[in-house]
Amino acid sequence: MHTAKISGAGHYVPERIVTNDYLATIMDTNDEWIKERTGISERRWVENGDGNTAATMGTKAAKKAIAQSGLETSDIGHIVFATISPDYYFPGCGVQVQESLDMGTIGATDIRNACSGFIYAMSIADAFVKSGTYQHVLVVASELQSPFLDKTTRGRNVSVIFGDGAGAVIVSKANKGEKGIMSCHTHAQGKHKEELTMKGFGTQHWIGELLENGIDPDIHYPQMNGNFVFKNAVVRFEQVIGEALKKNNMTSDQIDCLIPHQANLRIAQFIQKRMGLRDDQVFNNIQKYGNTTGASIAIAFSEAIETGVVKRGDIICMAAFGAGFTWGSVLMEY
Ligand code: UT7
Repeated sequence: MHTAKISGAGHYVPERIVTNDYLATIMDTNDEWIKERTGISERRWVENGDGNTAATMGTKAAKKAIAQSGLETSDIGHIVFATISPDYYFPGCGVQVQESLDMGTIGATDIRNACSGFIYAMSIADAFVKSGTYQHVLVVASELQSPFLDKTTRGRNVSVIFGDGAGAVIVSKANKGEKGIMSCHTHAQGKHKEELTMKGFGTQHWIGELLENGIDPDIHYPQMNGNFVFKNAVVRFEQVIGEALKKNNMTSDQIDCLIPHQANLRIAQFIQKRMGLRDDQVFNNIQKYGNTTGASIAIAFSEAIETGVVKRGDIICMAAFGAGFTWGSVLMEY
């Protein structure tokens, strides 16, 4: 059995900054409510026609991750792409990255685990490398959510939270003596599938229904039972971080940097308090980017490296919770 580690990371966010004050001009909301309930000041939304899609943003992040790893594109053995906002209903975005980066005929796996997508993708890449199947796996997480948000007052509890962006890492075989990825844990609870969902354009709602009735806000926009999701999130985050620490005989004071899924700053602060972590042990950037669903941890991790917050040798814990419900964690020495 081998050990896997992260050998490179990169991220990309669209240039267009959407402030809370701008949102207040298109729906009944305000900067104070959004900041107080979520911690978000601004988010990035693509400009219609600027060429940014989940696949193209993911490709930009992937290029940066490959460059940072010092590898050639031809060294990568497999792609794992996490998104719930793909360019096409099918095929998935993985094949688009493969084509754009001219990666021959390597395999591409697509993951649809929403906010936990990056953690699920990491767990698969880790297993591929551990088993010796591949030496280097490209993991991409990218979301283009702004076009399918209900940007009227009706959708304000959801639409003010979400943003667009992409992150990527290279998961590579570690050298002897390197700890790398110590454990990955993934969980799901399907009975809560409708607490956070976008039902259309799934096959439960056939095209005829859409043509006949037009867009139904309850089906074709994301719906979230915010309070219920919040309450479950704080419990599951703590559990799954605890699970990672227990598995590795570690305690929370040994974490150099916790990178929680950027769901809501209040959730991150709640977990930080529950786990007794100092401010410098938790990295958040939701203030600038909003909740980028599956991409948020990958973007935050890359930015934490870029800004010097995360350094080689640090113990990093990543944790996510979201639609499904699904949740998970990755504990590693970077
Ligand atoms: O990333 C995937 C996982 N997602 C999460 O973890 C998100 C979890 N949930 C949350 O973060 C929070 O539930 C929200 C931020 C989404 C909502 O905050 P909340 O404190 O749960 O608000 P609420 O939905 O209970 O709404 C409270 C009030 C309502 O008004 P009334 O009925 O008290 O008069 C809403 O209509 O706030 C109103 N409201 C807003 N007001 C201004 C809801 N959204 C907005 C808004 N601007 N954008």
